[in-house]
Amino acid sequence: MLAINNIDVAYGNVQVLFGLSLHVKRGELLCLLGRNGAGKTTTLKSIMGLVPVRNGSISLDDSALNTLAPHKIPGTGIAYVPQGRRLFSELSVKQNMDIGLMASGAGTETFESVLDMFPRLRERLRQRAETLSGGEQQMLAMARALCMKPQLILLDEPTEGLQPSMISLIRDVVEQLKAQNVAVILVEQNVETVLNMADRVAFIEHGRNPETVSGQELQANPELVRRYLGVE
Ligand SMILES: Nc1ncnc2c1ncn2[C@@H]1O[C@H](COP(=O)(O)OP(=O)(O)OP(=O)(O)O)[C@@H](O)[C@H]1O
Ligand SMILES: [Mg+2]
Repeated sequence: MLAINNIDVAYGNVQVLFGLSLHVKRGELLCLLGRNGAGKTTTLKSIMGLVPVRNGSISLDDSALNTLAPHKIPGTGIAYVPQGRRLFSELSVKQNMDIGLMASGAGTETFESVLDMFPRLRERLRQRAETLSGGEQQMLAMARALCMKPQLILLDEPTEGLQPSMISLIRDVVEQLKAQNVAVILVEQNVETVLNMADRVAFIEHGRNPETVSGQELQANPELVRRYLGVE
């Protein structure tokens, strides 16, 4: 459904992505793994039109995305949960979710089904976002994105700094999205989280994608993790 074809991306004079290509299908979970600074966040920003693509193209179901204005991209059914979350901190949980609902024109049914995935948010609808715990803020960032009823969701390190119970909740949500045929691109440093969940894992190294393997292949070849992440 989404295809990135041979893109070059630079910040000013500094090129960060070099002929990068990736694709994801409906209901598929694609994980991006790579060292700090490899270009994972930049890849997601390219999809959202937040950095200009110099060469190459990005398409969604055969229509070009990289020629659209950035504000039109959420309307194509792609939701983005940035690294570090970026909520409207002074607004309440409900107001943050309303922003997602307004963007999609979705109603109460969507609101309720998203709250069913995150019962802790239901208990805190009037609480200001900035007073939520770190894990709750991550839930809210995902909930707001899901209120947009995306067909593709981009998650940038959603489990960063979270305890295991919160990580498993986020995994459950990702599994539910896959079951609803939503495509997910997940940037994740936590290899354990990626291993038994990902349909495919794309390694990102110096702004390139040297290799993409299935989740099973990664499990069978742990040396890939050492090669591309430099860790056990
Ligand atoms: N706005 C910017 N201006 C200039 N350089 C940038 C900008 N944003 C990112 N970069 C550089 O681009 C490179 C890739 O950054 P990016 O954020 O995509 O990496 P990443 O793989 O997401 O890393 P991390 O795992 O640390 O989040 C880095 O060298 C970074 O310093
Ligand atoms: Mg990043």
